[in-house]
Amino acid sequence: MSEVDKMARLEALLFVSGDPLANADIATYLEVDADEAASLIEQLKRRYQRDPMSGLIVRQIEGATSLGTKPVYADTLEAFYGKVRDLKLTDAAYETLAVIAYNAPATRAEIETVRGVNSDSVVSRLIERGLVREVGTLETPGRPALLDVTEQFLMDFGLSSTRELPPVDLMMYDTITEFTQERQSAAIGAAPKPLVIAIDGPSGSGKSTIARLLSEHLGILTLDTGAMYRALGVKALRLGISPSDQEAVRAMLSETSMEIDLADRVQKTIVDGSDYTPYIRTPEASKAASDISVLPVTREYCVRIQREIGKRQALILDGRDIGTYVFPDAPVKFFLTASHEVRAKRRLVDLERAGVPSTLEEVMREMEIRDRQDSERQLAPTKRADDAILIDTSEMSIREVVDVMIDVIRQREQVQPSWSQSRHG
Ligand code: DC
Repeated sequence: MSEVDKMARLEALLFVSGDPLANADIATYLEVDADEAASLIEQLKRRYQRDPMSGLIVRQIEGATSLGTKPVYADTLEAFYGKVRDLKLTDAAYETLAVIAYNAPATRAEIETVRGVNSDSVVSRLIERGLVREVGTLETPGRPALLDVTEQFLMDFGLSSTRELPPVDLMMYDTITEFTQERQSAAIGAAPKPLVIAIDGPSGSGKSTIARLLSEHLGILTLDTGAMYRALGVKALRLGISPSDQEAVRAMLSETSMEIDLADRVQKTIVDGSDYTPYIRTPEASKAASDISVLPVTREYCVRIQREIGKRQALILDGRDIGTYVFPDAPVKFFLTASHEVRAKRRLVDLERAGVPSTLEEVMREMEIRDRQDSERQLAPTKRADDAILIDTSEMSIREVVDVMIDVIRQREQVQPSWSQSRHG
């Protein structure tokens, strides 16, 4: 079959189908593989776009394709059909559709929670009009139906997927998430636990390497909380502010925006729009981080961001106070430690890798000062939570430590939700 022949067949197929045809089926009918089918669809789409004498377009909706008509000719077609469908919806119907589209799949109770009024009759009308459909049931008492918008909805609103919907006021999303969590906790009779794995310990205990390996193994992201204090310390130094000056730091923080970019699995700590990651591992940054992290105003700033990120997704957090303060309800907590000398040697290797020459004595001295400051401070000192599992990594290889931790996590999963099923990104 020539390329031209395949294109012509594709057009004929879509013409007779009328309804969206799954791309996988198109590939089967044309006897081509998925990539070739996608390329033929794309070519047809472009051909219609380019051709001013054609009134047709190719529509792609979540893995399926159909032919449609160019919206500019709607008046002619309406005249022909005598206005096929009156698309006017009531405000209540639009609102309900939006709630479903943004939160799908959603139950009637969830829709009611967001809208604040019973929406059953509106939902029924939307189902009758083919804009909403039931896609399953929720595995909770009463097995309520789960609702989603239909392909008809996507076509009527000119969307290829609900992912194309413009961002909305996130309150709507929050409300529904809170409601779902409340319902889950009511079902198990306890407050929902965050899907968080806390790894605390002093520097050089292996936290960040181990967190990274665990993250790869479990398929969930890691947040290095120390990087946040480091970045703020660096910003203070750049501004000529002493990282111990509470008032100056407070003023600085009031004008600081911090974003944590965890895409690509490599954390970027972005302050005021700039990525600080390359500048936060120097000895000066370590000292500034230790100083600035003592201040309550800094802790409040960083902990708020950490809790927000941990609430949204399954997460491994490494730090000093994750199990004791940031997420005291974390279902799994580890406290890693190692002898002073082993930790200093590891830190020395890190510094060498980063091109910062130092000596073991220097590192040990600095580490001792930092350790004392981090663990003797009043607020959120480096401390093992009562329910944290203590692992002394001095005599263990990284692999051994990770294996022990994975065993613990798997055991906890018998009674707790599974992290590996909550993969993110
Ligand atoms: O883990 P790290 O060495 O990158 O941490 C840098 C500093 O930040 C360290 O001196 C202690 C502080 N810190 C903190 O106070 N709380 C955390 N959760 C993480 C780090």
